[in-house]
Amino acid sequence: MFRQELVDVHGVPLFWTIAEAWSQVEGFEARPDDLLITTYPKSGTTWMSEIMDLIKNDGFAEKQKNIPITERIPMLESAAPGILPTSTDVLEKLPSPRFVKSHLPIPLLPKNFWESNCKVIYVARNAKDVAVSYYHFDRMNKFHPDPGTFAEYLEKFMSGNVSYGHWHEHVISWWEKKKDHPILYLFYEDIKEDPKREIKKVMQFLGKKFDEETLDRIVQHTSFESMKDNLMVNYKSLPTSLMDHNISPFMRKGIAGDWKNYFTVAQNEKFDADYEKKMSGTTLKFRTEI
Ligand code: A3P
Repeated sequence: MFRQELVDVHGVPLFWTIAEAWSQVEGFEARPDDLLITTYPKSGTTWMSEIMDLIKNDGFAEKQKNIPITERIPMLESAAPGILPTSTDVLEKLPSPRFVKSHLPIPLLPKNFWESNCKVIYVARNAKDVAVSYYHFDRMNKFHPDPGTFAEYLEKFMSGNVSYGHWHEHVISWWEKKKDHPILYLFYEDIKEDPKREIKKVMQFLGKKFDEETLDRIVQHTSFESMKDNLMVNYKSLPTSLMDHNISPFMRKGIAGDWKNYFTVAQNEKFDADYEKKMSGTTLKFRTEI
């Protein structure tokens, strides 16, 4: 009933729910001490959000007061009419300093985030695993267009005909933006490889210092194994009319390299050729396995 096609918003295809809430998103008032967590979808946003929130709470999950991540760190452009309150309304009521989540590409982010010089943490994940993860997410999210078969979906992904548009434009433009804006740019594969090392970078960016014991607690609490069973982060508290975890759980596999279980040799060759062209002019490099 809710599945609808993507809608063009200033040249970027977006889920229809976001398009409907667009005037509120565009008019959103950032505060100078807002900290933005941005990613292309399916790149580890929820993972990083939970890490950031735990750091903010000095490593104590109890301080999160059993509030779902969607309410602690709402997604700026999120909307699910008739099911959830619009995120901009939720965000306006949050006390400062706020953490704000978004997947918006640079041109669509409300201007006052830039004018307020808000700090940003960006997480990027290799395109092949993003495509697989996004495919399963579109299957289980009842507001998203039907992804069809994986082969069909991969074509859409390569042509940028998915919500938030082209993956490569997103990751490259945020990579370039780092030259003139306070952005901590991290990689999913790096966090997976050595969570402690990457969490320390986030702590430094947030101006926090912890002892080893606290750090270990954060690593443990934000591991895939812990998060997949944690109702406050695994999205299972949302109604099934929005997300159906029986089709595919939100916390699906949490690994690097799952694309190998999906791409055929021919698909992989086509993807690589297209990738080479689109990524040729950038210093940005990804690992597709660890
Ligand atoms: P998979 O579908 O490949 O399993 P986002 O939060 O940006 O939507 O990203 C969701 C992806 O991040 C999913 O990938 C999910 O399983 C993975 N993920 C979430 N928490 C994780 C964690 N603690 N460790 C590793 N991966 C995690």
